[in-house]
Amino acid sequence: MVRPFSLLIPPRGIVHLRHPLPSLAFPSSIARSPRRARARAIVTMSSGRGKVVCVTGASGYIASWIVKFLLQRGYTVRASVRDPADPAKTAHLRSLDGAAEQLHLFKANLLEEGSFDAGVEGCDGVFHTASPFYHAVTDPQAELLEPAVKGTLNVLASCKKFSIKRIIVTSSMAAVAYNDKERTPDTVVDETWWSIPEVCEQNKQWYVLSKTLAEQTAWKFAQENALEILTINPAMVIGPLLQPTLNTSSAAILNLINGASTYPNFSMGWVNVQDVAMAHILAFELPSASGRYCLVERVAHYSELVKIIHELYPALKLPEKCADDNPFPPTYQVSKLKFRSLGREYIPLETSLKETIESLKEKNFVSF
Ligand SMILES: NC(=O)c1ccc[n+]([C@@H]2O[C@H](COP(=O)([O-])OP(=O)(O)OC[C@H]3O[C@@H](n4cnc5c(N)ncnc54)[C@H](OP(=O)(O)O)[C@@H]3O)[C@@H](O)[C@H]2O)c1
Repeated sequence: MVRPFSLLIPPRGIVHLRHPLPSLAFPSSIARSPRRARARAIVTMSSGRGKVVCVTGASGYIASWIVKFLLQRGYTVRASVRDPADPAKTAHLRSLDGAAEQLHLFKANLLEEGSFDAGVEGCDGVFHTASPFYHAVTDPQAELLEPAVKGTLNVLASCKKFSIKRIIVTSSMAAVAYNDKERTPDTVVDETWWSIPEVCEQNKQWYVLSKTLAEQTAWKFAQENALEILTINPAMVIGPLLQPTLNTSSAAILNLINGASTYPNFSMGWVNVQDVAMAHILAFELPSASGRYCLVERVAHYSELVKIIHELYPALKLPEKCADDNPFPPTYQVSKLKFRSLGREYIPLETSLKETIESLKEKNFVSF
């Protein structure tokens, strides 16, 4: 007998217990059994019904995926953008399934006090994602540090004003892994690690500093004002783009496939944007979730990325040498325990690279 949908909708948080390997939390390629797929569809469609949430910086790369998944799960989404009249920032959001009924755009700027009040008032939860992410800055204080830190305080002040129950803050591995600790392939970085502002400042890593200070500020404000925040700390995020513009982390892959002769001499963590977006939502939905969530599928040197891309696209011209002759920085591990506690397994780096490249082609950033 087919039970009506409403009887199958578990109360918030119970989802995880009823489906110990919840297919909702896996990429669709992994959810192969029809029973799991059906359960996934039901839970996915229903877990946000009747709830209102706010997403800041909604037009961005990661936030667009968060909005897409929230709409799929039935949430009503209040989405902040700096310019609601700019189709380059909003058309891809307005065309998402469910957007016509469930998506409400509002104008807000991180630097304007009270800017988020109208969007946050009456929400069940807030996803604070907005923050500038780029490296070529002339005035780090004005371009990166102020919007990151003051913006976080502005959003959290609105959350305090309207007694928001749970706030998910998009932080970064930038706030975790940049310190003076030695890293080797045996080192396991986890959520207890913190970047050290002085180290970031010394190395002129202004974006890294902005994320470190913003997260420190968020935890301090939350503690002082009895707010419940959780942070999501992804490394370099790749995977399909929803927005029509090129974001910084997708550009890192584009720069490998657009005819460059060298690759950078860096080892970084990599993670798929769909895992990142779902981690935000699961961290919001699961009552047991708390604290920080490092998100890294694999730490890999750029030379390793080039090797994988060569295997995926043997005819593609790729950089053949490293940008300098220095030894490669060592890779390290990042604990996957917290991410797995959300009931999800990572999409492999190989898949993420393929999805990124296909998406860059589809959006005409590259052609081959
Ligand atoms: N992508 C990654 O690899 C990665 C990794 C770890 C953490 N993160 C974090 O994830 C978040 C989103 O990054 P993303 O990669 O999705 O970057 P993105 O596509 O550049 O999105 C950044 C968003 O922040 C908004 N924003 C910037 N300055 C603002 C201001 N003054 N007022 C209001 N909104 C402002 C932007 O709005 P406009 O569209 O109006 O410019 C945009 O929507 C950031 O907090 C970033 O630090 C990203």
